[in-house]
Amino acid sequence: MSNPTPHSSPPPGPDSTWQALLAHRGEIGERHLAQLFASDPARAARMQAEACGLFLDYSKNRVTGDTLALLFELAREAGLDARRAAMFDGERINRSEGRAVLHTALRRPADECVMVDGRNVVADIAAVRERCYRFAEAVRDGAWRGYDGRAITDVVHIGIGGSDLGPLMVCEALKPCAHPRLRMHFVSNVDGVQIGDVLCAADPGTTLFIVASKTFTTQETLANAHTARRWLIERSGDETVIARHFAAVSTHPGAVTSFGIDPANMFGFWDWVGGRYSLWSAIGLPIVLQIGAAGFDALLAGARAMDLHFREAPFERNLPVILALTGIWNIDFLGAPSQLIAPYHQRLHRLPAFLQQLDMESNGKSVKLDGSPAGCQTSPVIWGESGINGQHAYFQMLHQGTQLVPTDFIGVLEAERGFEQHHRIAFANLVAQAEALMRGKSAAEAEAEMRAAGMAGERIRALLPHRVFPGNRPSNALLMARLDPYTLGALIALYEHRTFVQGVVWGLNSFDQWGVELGKQLAARVLDDLAAPADLHAHDASTAGLIARYRACAVR
Ligand code: F6P
Repeated sequence: MSNPTPHSSPPPGPDSTWQALLAHRGEIGERHLAQLFASDPARAARMQAEACGLFLDYSKNRVTGDTLALLFELAREAGLDARRAAMFDGERINRSEGRAVLHTALRRPADECVMVDGRNVVADIAAVRERCYRFAEAVRDGAWRGYDGRAITDVVHIGIGGSDLGPLMVCEALKPCAHPRLRMHFVSNVDGVQIGDVLCAADPGTTLFIVASKTFTTQETLANAHTARRWLIERSGDETVIARHFAAVSTHPGAVTSFGIDPANMFGFWDWVGGRYSLWSAIGLPIVLQIGAAGFDALLAGARAMDLHFREAPFERNLPVILALTGIWNIDFLGAPSQLIAPYHQRLHRLPAFLQQLDMESNGKSVKLDGSPAGCQTSPVIWGESGINGQHAYFQMLHQGTQLVPTDFIGVLEAERGFEQHHRIAFANLVAQAEALMRGKSAAEAEAEMRAAGMAGERIRALLPHRVFPGNRPSNALLMARLDPYTLGALIALYEHRTFVQGVVWGLNSFDQWGVELGKQLAARVLDDLAAPADLHAHDASTAGLIARYRACAVR
């Protein structure tokens, strides 16, 4: 397979490491991974790193020792050390919004100190967390009762984006640790179907709603929350029951109170926690409800361990740095437009969606911090689902398609009890897919196989091009010792820091998301136009046509 031309407009100047990497890319050309392994028996042992219950084998990337040395130099040249320190120390590195970026403070032990505007935020974090824990414990042990005196059985978390994907992904991943009485439901879509389905099966006397929105202005979340509120009042016949059945998580207490939620059930967080980095804050309340305070503490401890590893390990053994830099090699120097996340564990099935927001909302930018053009490819398209299902859907393209799709194979070493043979099959497939993508199948191998099957020469010649696998497709194998709160916390923090490192090298602000605003603004105008009988806002002909079609249909 010939790869797309590497990007020729690198960000830094002519003597930079970026230029050296471009030249190096020319030198190593299409050198095949299979040859690299054959000529260097120590390659796999050299290209692996381990921390916090996570093992990374990155030897199936198309890199040599020289490539890695240049990549580590690239990170140094980008000032990664200083930028990392600035983030952990609470400097306002989110410059376009004038904010610190301190999701890592949410994982700091209560006796530590991180100052923001002259205030130790670790103490504030501990105070809110304590309230979350007390609330969750009351719900879990049945002391918290619904309006008719029964214990809560169903928790409906209403939120979207960062106020949904983190808690949803973690709750799915940690189901074996779930409280036996509590069923968790997540509602994010505004089309009415999700909330409709949940309410249809819910018992108002035993259902607790959590409305989670950093801004408490998000249309989708408020529409769903209002529907839930109306449903509860209709069913109970009493407006005051809201206090027993609604909690809120937000940075805007005023908006929560106006909605009618009791301030005693409101859990705050801060503008220095980005939505996509917020599961460690009160946004993680559903996680606390599901796995309890001790489980949430373990999740935080895993993330904290990864923070320490990220801060202290040399680049050459630093998991987030290695993942980030090999990713940049794939994106900017090998021309890979996307990155597949392939977890070989059903409980991690929402991880790709979570990482999609984490990465694409953070680094989906084309200008640098100073407003100048990025000058290189930034965030790839992040996509994926459970790896084993993907094998039977899109892996054909990974093996024989025209695009290079670097893949993170994520596995769990410990099997769930009673399913050891299933686990072995899944793990075998993970290993085999990575091996197949790496080595491929040569024409000679394919031909020998067909001959052995007794095929005639003419048939072999016709089929041969279809049965050759070029291989040389890069992947990482990332293995979790087990799927528990601690290791999951470390895994999530690993990817958070990977995103950060890539943003630093590309010179981006990874912590704003202005790109989502225009669509929101226009949606408000379009919503008016869908309802209003006359006087449409000005639109292009296509947009006006779609609005007209909807209106014509809605009238019928
Ligand atoms: O539209 C994008 C976004 O602002 C995300 O960044 C955020 O996670 C999501 O919407 C939800 O926002 P909020 O928590 O304010 O409802």
